[in-house]
Amino acid sequence: MGTPHNEAPQGAFAKTVLMPGDPLRAKFIAETFLTDARLVNNVRGVQGYTGTYQGTPVSVMASGMGMPSIGIYSHELFHFYDVDNIIRVGSAGAISPKLKLRDVVMAQGACTDSDYAHQFGLPGTFAPIADFTLLETAVAVARRMGVEPPVGSLLSSDVFYNKAGNTMDWGKMGVLAIEMETAALYCNAAEAGKRALTICTISDSLVTGEELPPADRQTSFTQMMEIALGVAVEMAKK
Ligand code: HPA
Repeated sequence: MGTPHNEAPQGAFAKTVLMPGDPLRAKFIAETFLTDARLVNNVRGVQGYTGTYQGTPVSVMASGMGMPSIGIYSHELFHFYDVDNIIRVGSAGAISPKLKLRDVVMAQGACTDSDYAHQFGLPGTFAPIADFTLLETAVAVARRMGVEPPVGSLLSSDVFYNKAGNTMDWGKMGVLAIEMETAALYCNAAEAGKRALTICTISDSLVTGEELPPADRQTSFTQMMEIALGVAVEMAKK
């Protein structure tokens, strides 16, 4: 029926799944934005819900933190649940001085310090990139809302508390911001022949040391969610 990490029966997930890191955020998204949302998974408290948004079936399930975690859940959604699109909706720390707190950034590609792609046995370095259709749809939906999103590369790191202190070096290559999941998600989508996109709200800045106060997080989070849900609706028409 399910998998070691997901008790939902096959067919329980919509074609598009939104993935926040935090299970409580998945619950919040389901309760706030979806109609008739029902809990389809709760193994390890990694809550997954399926409901509708503007009449389109949409699921939301947490990824947990880091590449091993999103690697497991996205693999199972793509391979066992026949999910076509995964949109990560997360937070990221700014590396580029051009980014401001609350900016909603789209990950065209993901650099990484992780060895996740080693498993594919390639004779070189794989470039984890967003699905172009999801990315162009997300940019179009954002523009319709009057938002011009920064688009570029993120750093997906295995470490939050980096003892080497060299995270800002990635800025030399134009990397916009740091998070911990996208490179694995994009690798898994490529391997499965499916689509993935990461959209992140800038929650803190490694340049200035600022952090979003919890109340402000909600507003920019809502904008990111409306973009991601708008993409789910558009993808259902394609
Ligand atoms: N580092 C890693 N992941 C993050 C950060 C950060 O500073 N901010 C939000 N996600």
